[in-house]
Amino acid sequence: MYFPIILGTAREGRQSEKVARFMLEELKKEGIESGIIDVRDYRIEATDNTKKGSEAKRLAEIIGKADGIVIVSPEYNHGYPGELKMMLDLLYEEYRGKPVLICGVSAGIFGGTRMVEQLRLVCLGLGMVPVSSALYFRNAEEFNESEGNEDYKKSVKRAVEELKLYNQ
Ligand SMILES: Cc1cc2nc3c(=O)[nH]c(=O)nc-3n(C[C@H](O)[C@H](O)[C@H](O)COP(=O)(O)O)c2cc1C
Repeated sequence: MYFPIILGTAREGRQSEKVARFMLEELKKEGIESGIIDVRDYRIEATDNTKKGSEAKRLAEIIGKADGIVIVSPEYNHGYPGELKMMLDLLYEEYRGKPVLICGVSAGIFGGTRMVEQLRLVCLGLGMVPVSSALYFRNAEEFNESEGNEDYKKSVKRAVEELKLYNQ
């Protein structure tokens, strides 16, 4: 099964990158094929849903093959980063019916909860199926990707089971 991970911020010094790498390792442990789709590689100047650009083609190839999608994103001013939305908007049909797991990241104690709620609605608009699980990575600066933490590891296992339900 193939669940690529979208890393939703291009910010210099982003802490979310550690979380994306942690998710990648945990998915591998669960026998899931994955990889990181980095928004830094998809920087576009304006919204473009024509699917003519090389970025859209590249993204369509990955999303088209995906059995599910994982999004790791920080919360910026209670929402999701603009670059993530511009990248997601490159495609439409390719997302249809695909389960999506959202992982919020924040410097504080809430782990991006408000962003997760907003992004779920965007994902629904794109035809994805947000699973009921979500992960909330709080205190991002202190997060150690190689150690992770047992609660997060258990949550990943649960979420993977949920993503798999949509692939039976
Ligand atoms: C523009 C901007 C807005 C932010 N807004 C919020 C916010 O609304 N809530 C929050 O918990 N943290 C907020 N933060 C802090 C992030 O949680 C923090 O940067 C964290 O490390 C995750 O983001 P990162 O991957 O960019 O590092 C904001 C950070 C930036 C750069």
